[in-house]
Amino acid sequence: ELPAAVTIWEVGPRDGLQNEKQAVPVEVKLEFLDRLADAGLPVLEATSFVRPEWVPQLADAAELLAGLKRVPGIRYPVLVPNAKGLDRALESQVRDIAIFASATETFTRRNLNRGLDEQFAMFDPVVRRAVGEGLSVRGYISMCFGDPWEGAVPVEQVVSVGKRLLEMGCDQLSLGDTIGVATPGHVSALLRGFVAAGIGVDRLAVHFHDTYGQALSNTFAALRHGVSTVDSSAGGLGGCPYAKSATGNLATEDLVWMLEGLGIKHGVDLGKLVETSVWMAERLGRPSPSRVVKALSS
Ligand code: HMG
Ligand code: MG
Repeated sequence: ELPAAVTIWEVGPRDGLQNEKQAVPVEVKLEFLDRLADAGLPVLEATSFVRPEWVPQLADAAELLAGLKRVPGIRYPVLVPNAKGLDRALESQVRDIAIFASATETFTRRNLNRGLDEQFAMFDPVVRRAVGEGLSVRGYISMCFGDPWEGAVPVEQVVSVGKRLLEMGCDQLSLGDTIGVATPGHVSALLRGFVAAGIGVDRLAVHFHDTYGQALSNTFAALRHGVSTVDSSAGGLGGCPYAKSATGNLATEDLVWMLEGLGIKHGVDLGKLVETSVWMAERLGRPSPSRVVKALSS
C-alpha cells in the first residue's frame, strides 16, 4: 500500500557537496540551503562534523551553521561520527544528527577507520548523549545491497546492524545503496527482512544512489512497502568520496515528479526546486544529471 504523504529528506547540501572536486564557497552553500527551504523541503541535511582532513569539502560546517537562517519548522540535520563531532555540532546549536554505520567490514574501515564491530563502540556514547540532550538521531546504514569490495551483501547482515542502531537509541534508519547497485526485488527482500525482525517500515527511510539508473524504481518498490521517508538530492548531486563508483543520489526533482503523478503529498514547489538546481549547476560548471531538471528547464 502506498503512503498518503512522503517526507523528502534532502541530502544535496551534505551528500551532494561532500563529493565536489572544487570547494564550494560557504555563501553558495548558504544560498543553496535558503533556496531549498523556500522550495518547501522539510528536512535539509546541511553538512557533516567529520574530521576535516577526511572531507575537506565540508570543513566549513561551523561557519555554515553560524550563517544559516534557520526557517522555523524545517529540520537541519548534520552527520556526526564520534564524540568530537557531537561536541562541534552542539556548539553550533544542532538539534538533529545522523550517525553513519556500514553493513560491511571493508567500507567501515575505509569510511570510519574502524572495524565493523568497533563502529558501534564509537557510535554508542554519541547516540546516548544526543538522545539525552533531546536531539533526534538518525542511523544511516551504508552498503545495504552491494559493496564494491565484498559484492552482494546478505539481508541478515544489514538487519543485524540496523537492530543494534535502534537498540542504541536511533529513532530512524536510512538504508543506503551507496553505490547504486540495488534493484527493486532486492529492495523488497531487504524491507521484508526488517519487518520479519520486528522493525516496522515507519522506522525506515531509503537512500538510493543512481549509478545504475535504478534509484527511482527502487524508491517506488519501497513506497509499495509503505516506506514514507525518502532521501534525495536536488539535481541529483552526490556520491561518497570513500566508496568507489558511488555517483549522485536520486534527484529530488525526479522523486517529486513521480510522487506528484501518484497523488502522494510531498509539499515541494517543483518549479522553484528546478530553478535552484539550474542555479547550482551553473555554480558547479556542469549540467544536472536529473532528467526532470533537463525536461523542465529546456
Ligand atoms: P580517525 O583518523 O581514525 O580519527 O578518523 P581519530 O579518532 O583517530 O582522531 C584523530 C584526530 O582527528 C584527533 O585529533 C581528533 O581530535 C580529530 P588530534 O588529537 O590528532 O589532534 N578528530 C576530529 N576533528 C574534527 N571533527 C571530528 C573529529 N574526529 C576526530 N569529528 C573519523 C575517524 C570517524 C573521524 C574519520 O574516519 C571520518 O571523519 N570519517 C568520515 C568519512 C565521511 O564523512 N564519509 C562520508 C559520509 S558517509 C556517506 O556518504 C554515506 C551515506 O550518504 C549513506 C550512503 O550513501 O550509503 C551517509
Ligand atoms: Mg549517500
